[in-house]
Amino acid sequence: MDKLLIQGGHRLSGDIVISGAKNAALPILCAGLLTAGTLELSNVPNLHDVTTMLKLLGQTGLEVTQDDHRVTLTGGAIDKLEAPYDLVKTMRASILVLGPLLARFGEAKVSLPGGCAIGSRPVDQHIKGLQALGAEITIEGGYIYAKCKKLKGTRIVTDMITVTGTENLLMAATLAEGETILENAAREPEVTDLAHLLVAMGAKIEGIGTDRLVIQGVAELHGAKHAVISDRIEAATFLCAVAAAGGDITIRNTRTDILDAALDKLREVGLQMEIGPDWIHAKMDRRPTPVTFRTTEYPGFPTDMQAQFMAVNTVADGASRVTETIFENRFMHVQEMNRLGAHIETDGNTAFIQGVEQLVGAPVMATDLRASASLVIAALAARGETVIDRIYHLDRGYDQMEVKLSAVGAKIERVKSSK
Ligand code: EPZ
Repeated sequence: MDKLLIQGGHRLSGDIVISGAKNAALPILCAGLLTAGTLELSNVPNLHDVTTMLKLLGQTGLEVTQDDHRVTLTGGAIDKLEAPYDLVKTMRASILVLGPLLARFGEAKVSLPGGCAIGSRPVDQHIKGLQALGAEITIEGGYIYAKCKKLKGTRIVTDMITVTGTENLLMAATLAEGETILENAAREPEVTDLAHLLVAMGAKIEGIGTDRLVIQGVAELHGAKHAVISDRIEAATFLCAVAAAGGDITIRNTRTDILDAALDKLREVGLQMEIGPDWIHAKMDRRPTPVTFRTTEYPGFPTDMQAQFMAVNTVADGASRVTETIFENRFMHVQEMNRLGAHIETDGNTAFIQGVEQLVGAPVMATDLRASASLVIAALAARGETVIDRIYHLDRGYDQMEVKLSAVGAKIERVKSSK
């Protein structure tokens, strides 16, 4: 397994270009199943999860071509309506093929995604919603078997706000008969980006960006061209890096209108920022101020930024408290950060951090995607060498992070594993 070798203590300086959003690209790729036409996608990030999704979609018969950040999908020859366990077990977002396959072909066999490091992550709301739309669903041998003659629109209220649950049901509703109302819908910008693509494909959706989506089903959808939105989590991750390590960077090709909660906290941390339409110039010349926050659904503080801000808090000049309300086990990075000399204690879904003057490099292990990013941030701020193992977690969601950081002065290199 590849490792990252980081010599901490170097300030960052220069420009970083942000890639397309992983959590928009994954549902958008699945939308290719909804039409016999062609989707021409740009700004698709070069990530392991995207590679896995393209492999999964290719196995259904969807024609896939990828050229750097451009992907085309043509759905005229789909003949295998399933997502097998060997791929689903490596990427939970595979569940997003269920709604489109069911809506267009009336049938789907999708492996139940297992849990993952950050929580059990059930898909009961996806299933409940599809059943409400008329699907007959049974679960046997670790697989979801779904069938229907034709989905019929209805009003669905999910028990909690679920991002991929909203996306699955939204895609299914576009080809259902009649009107579907999704109450309690997720409002994440990635859901909005998917909705914009679906409208470009001929779907009829109202309430985009709100927690109430109203969809009039249509007989079929056609191809479209779409640029995936910029990754707000990648952007905020690099801003946390400069907040912890110090320096002067400009992040480019970013959206600045979907980052409010993170930018508010970064100002509180003491990051000086000048914000343009698609760039942010950020400077940090002092020790961070600690920030207390609790994660919640968009537009609140994103759970996908919790670990990265905790890394900043570990070197802040005071105490802070972090409460994780979305996932039940998203503190896997805490023990690893304490190996670097951080002072963090957890009690249930709350972590108490006492900032220290200086972290000290040590060997640590990545456990999940955002935890990996937080360890990179802590290592950049630490004195001495840190080795981060199992960085395949990082590669799932960050497009060449070490290349982008090296280009702004970080002493970071990838050590390829022999096996
Ligand atoms: C999406 O996961 C993102 N992944 C996650 O990003 C993100 O952390 C999460 O939304 C929350 O914003 C993608 O978009 C591919 P949820 P998702 O359904 O959709 C519970 C990253 O780091 N729930 O919104 O799986 C669930 O257990 C990843 O990029 C049910 O109980 O999250 C959780 O507690 C990590 N039953 C809460 O709802 C369901 O049927 C929110 O989960 C569905 C969800």
